[in-house]
Amino acid sequence: MATTLAFDVYGTLIDTHGVIDALKPHVGHRASDFSRAWRDKQLEYSFRRGLMQHYEPFAVCTSQALDLTCSQFGLHMNPENRKELLDAYRTLPAFKDAREGLARTREAGFRLFAFSNGSAEAVEALLAQAGLRDFFLDVVSVDEVKSFKPNPGVYAHFLRRAGATGSEAWLISGNPFDVIGALSAGMRAAWVRRSPEALFDPWGIEPTLTVASLSDLAARLNS
Ligand code: 2OP
Repeated sequence: MATTLAFDVYGTLIDTHGVIDALKPHVGHRASDFSRAWRDKQLEYSFRRGLMQHYEPFAVCTSQALDLTCSQFGLHMNPENRKELLDAYRTLPAFKDAREGLARTREAGFRLFAFSNGSAEAVEALLAQAGLRDFFLDVVSVDEVKSFKPNPGVYAHFLRRAGATGSEAWLISGNPFDVIGALSAGMRAAWVRRSPEALFDPWGIEPTLTVASLSDLAARLNS
């Protein structure tokens, strides 16, 4: 069977900082800082909910993290503006290298899946509006097992759903915590390090492969 690739979505195919323009009218020059704080808090909420076994969909982590970040930045957002920002999160843009990277890996014969913390419905819509959905055989969501990355159970769920084994399947992710989670669960994993400033956690666990762009992935996987 062809090798299976599980592409992470937020932070790998889709740029979560694509909300910066929508944030500018509210927080001006602090839009980048706000976006980073929002994303960090969203992930923190998913980690905590996973550990506590108190699951709510990722969209709940996103909206509650927005409320907390507004408080942190002293921002009083009316319901209309709040809805606009959450809508912007549902229409985030793809990274520039996503389309080329997916096209090359598919042409090279790999089996492509999207694998995300987001619910299947949200991820299907997000990938469709970014023009990426058709590259994938399927969308696998952690929602199906009511936990979040990096719980080893969600990677095991992915392998079951994709009909693949860990030793041959790869996670492809721009998120170091996800790369470490997949490796720890027995998968291979490629870290997409788009910026030289991006840091990898010093846990003594290294990515199987590091690429600077998704465009390089197919050639590096085959070499
Ligand atoms: C995702 O699962 C980790 O947020 C990232 O799409």
